[in-house]
Amino acid sequence: MNATDQLFANNRAWARAIQERDPEFFQKLTRQQSPPYLWIGCADSRVPANEIVGLLPGELFVHRNVANVVVHTDLNCLSVIQYAVDVLKVGDVIVCGHYGCGGVLAAMQSRRLGLIDNWLRHIQDVMRRHEGLLAVMADEAARARLLCELNVVDQVINVCQTTMVQGAWERGQPLVVHGWIYDIADGLLHDLSIGVGPGDSLDACYRRALDAAAVRATAALSAPRAG
Ligand code: CO
Repeated sequence: MNATDQLFANNRAWARAIQERDPEFFQKLTRQQSPPYLWIGCADSRVPANEIVGLLPGELFVHRNVANVVVHTDLNCLSVIQYAVDVLKVGDVIVCGHYGCGGVLAAMQSRRLGLIDNWLRHIQDVMRRHEGLLAVMADEAARARLLCELNVVDQVINVCQTTMVQGAWERGQPLVVHGWIYDIADGLLHDLSIGVGPGDSLDACYRRALDAAAVRATAALSAPRAG
């Protein structure tokens, strides 16, 4: 058996286990999908969207790319947001970053990796925007953690500024955009205090999230993490 044969064996076992719990499960999914959430996360193999929030197929609409970046000219990401907001009518959009993000680290160190350097320019824009806050951090590891958080906050704003989300709010659609971060060291999610809903001031939400990030960063300075 080669490595990919193993995946088919795993798949059969997985499908069997699900059907044992709910014999109608796959039949129900063929009829429609109506996931309540859109997840925009990093492509990193250690951050499997459904698994870390305990959701089954059909419950989470997912878009992943390197470093969970939302770019206003990325037709792929924008199409996912449009379909999720206009057609599926999700109630929550979650932008989820993670500590130790390879994309964020590469951007910080200006490492030359090839084509992807162009994509990571977006993270360098985030870095430049928050230069002052990042400069306060004691070392590169702490700066990297903070940049992972700030990247999520900035991408939440990008989601909120899309014509799809603006349009949904104008129509009175109850849609909330969240910014979360996942810690691959303990498997836990943290809310980055930037939930933006209809009628909220984007500027106020942004400032509140940046203040919260600054408070966390200052606390981390006075009580450095073990290891
Ligand atoms: Co990542």
